Amino acid sequence: MSRADGPRLPAHQVTTRNLGAAYPLVAEPGLGHRGVLIGHDLLGGSFVYDPFELYAQGLISNPNMIVFGQIGRGKSAFVKTYLWRQAVFGRRAWVVDPKGEYGALADAWGTAPIALRPGGSVRLNPLDPGPGGEPTTGNDSADGRQVELLASLAAACLGRGLLPRERVAVNLPLATVGSAGRVPTLPAAVEAMLEPTAAAAGAIRTQRETLLEDGRDVALELRRLVHGDLRGMFDGPTTAGLDLSGPLVVLDLSALYNSAALGVQMACATAWLQATLARQASGNGAGGVHTVVVDESWAVLAKLKVR
Ligand SMILES: Nc1ncnc2c1ncn2[C@@H]1O[C@H](COP(=O)(O)OP(=O)(O)OP(=O)(O)O)[C@@H](O)[C@H]1O
Ligand SMILES: [Mg+2]
Repeated sequence: MSRADGPRLPAHQVTTRNLGAAYPLVAEPGLGHRGVLIGHDLLGGSFVYDPFELYAQGLISNPNMIVFGQIGRGKSAFVKTYLWRQAVFGRRAWVVDPKGEYGALADAWGTAPIALRPGGSVRLNPLDPGPGGEPTTGNDSADGRQVELLASLAAACLGRGLLPRERVAVNLPLATVGSAGRVPTLPAAVEAMLEPTAAAAGAIRTQRETLLEDGRDVALELRRLVHGDLRGMFDGPTTAGLDLSGPLVVLDLSALYNSAALGVQMACATAWLQATLARQASGNGAGGVHTVVVDESWAVLAKLKVR
């Protein structure tokens, strides 16, 4: 009789709370003591997890972290103290803050949150280019990150993935905006989709009217973003003079926390933040090492895929 045919024991399930009692003599060796302390483990030893250190040592290849836990059990409090302990090592942080709860940390760090609200004084352009993505002339393909963002936003609003012809209908007009030497914005992208050029249509051997029809549903959904809840927040060039030089940059999105547009709003903010950080890092290398926090990230992950 092969092993596969033999009697099978049911899988044993146990909560992490009871695991220590179920396996009393097992202790994990830990990850070393270099870097930032998380807390104490069940046996009283210190538990250190520092993605920067572990990455440098080659022990991990992907320094992302996710914090799970029941409602109100201290996830955000942990993240705040973790960032504060990271500061000892000179590490900075950028935070997407949908509940408006990182103000005290910003205060302790001597900075002030950037508050986004409909009709407020601050605009962020989620289509700001990443490193090497400056507007160019004569290019018939748009920045991949920008296409991906627009496609993700439209897919979230439409409640389905985009068809191949719809992706093309995003890409070609967006390239037209970029080739004019301008940084694309959401309204400019929507306008370009509703009025595609003959050159854009010619690139895929079709007529302007066909390209317009292919992209019309997507354009109308994106247009809702520009004219709906998010009006005045992500629908123009990034406000000049924002101070992003501090050790902590907090994007306070709490004005729309209870809105149905929370996921889309967070996706726009995160896209802007990633492009801006990547540009800074590739520019003069200034700014040092950063932790990027997306609190309440379920709101983005539930609907959107953003690179
Ligand atoms: N170790 C602690 N000791 C005492 N109070 C704490 C501790 N950690 C967190 N708190 C407090 O518990 C409350 C909830 O914490 P927090 O907001 O961090 O939870 P959360 O898991 O992020 O909640 P949510 O799921 O709602 O986002 C806060 O008032 C916080 O100050
Ligand atoms: Mg929280």
